[in-house]
Amino acid sequence: MRRRLFAANWKMHHGPGAARSFLGTFLEQYARRTDRDVWFFPPAISFTTVLDLVRGRPDLGAGVQNVHWEPKGAFTGEISVPMLVEAGANGAIVGHSERRHGFGETDEESGNKARALLAAGLVPVFCVGEKLEEREAGETWAVVRRQLNVLDGLPTRQLAQLVVAYEPVWAIGTGRNATPADAAEVHRSIRGWFEKQGVNPDDVTVPYGGSVNLRNGADLLAEPEIDGVLVGGASLDPTGWAQLISLR
Ligand code: 13P
Repeated sequence: MRRRLFAANWKMHHGPGAARSFLGTFLEQYARRTDRDVWFFPPAISFTTVLDLVRGRPDLGAGVQNVHWEPKGAFTGEISVPMLVEAGANGAIVGHSERRHGFGETDEESGNKARALLAAGLVPVFCVGEKLEEREAGETWAVVRRQLNVLDGLPTRQLAQLVVAYEPVWAIGTGRNATPADAAEVHRSIRGWFEKQGVNPDDVTVPYGGSVNLRNGADLLAEPEIDGVLVGGASLDPTGWAQLISLR
């Protein structure tokens, strides 16, 4: 059975003080479950606070929301993969739609970031997903395939380390989630892309993201193609998050 990943993308919420207070409550309410990993992606300034608090719990991990592909240099405002390795991160989110569409990150840049993480043995949570007009034009798979194609040719043992989060842009922060069946269709195609690359499709973790909450989470997680969730808004409250990651 594929292992499940429940990932909290805090976006630009929870500085170090709020992160500490969140973890204090959360750790009291959530006991380890061996069938799932729970990773936090706080703002970079809160990352070491979170990591220090989850250390010692093998089911919990932490990463950052963005990373640069160069190991060091004059890149004001950026964080490198060697820095993440030194700090003990599990990985980083790459290609989130807010980076792609809000900050102009290109497919190629997302690919460079994923390659740098994989080369260092860290896990990219590689986000893919179509905009509403692309879905309505029947272009969902063409868009997701184009976003994945930047990973073409990576060694299979590296590709198998990837987490690919399917996050339709129209579902993010809108309260409108994809149906389990809609998501499953794309998740199956994503697995098919990896199979063509020579990777065992069951080695690749494919969570869903986009307006996941306590009301719709159980139905989404009941879909066998959905290996977990990547959650924004509903990951910000420790009690709600502890409940959400205990579903199914
Ligand atoms: P919401 O859960 O707030 O829709 O955000 C999803 C997301 O972007 C997670 O990366």
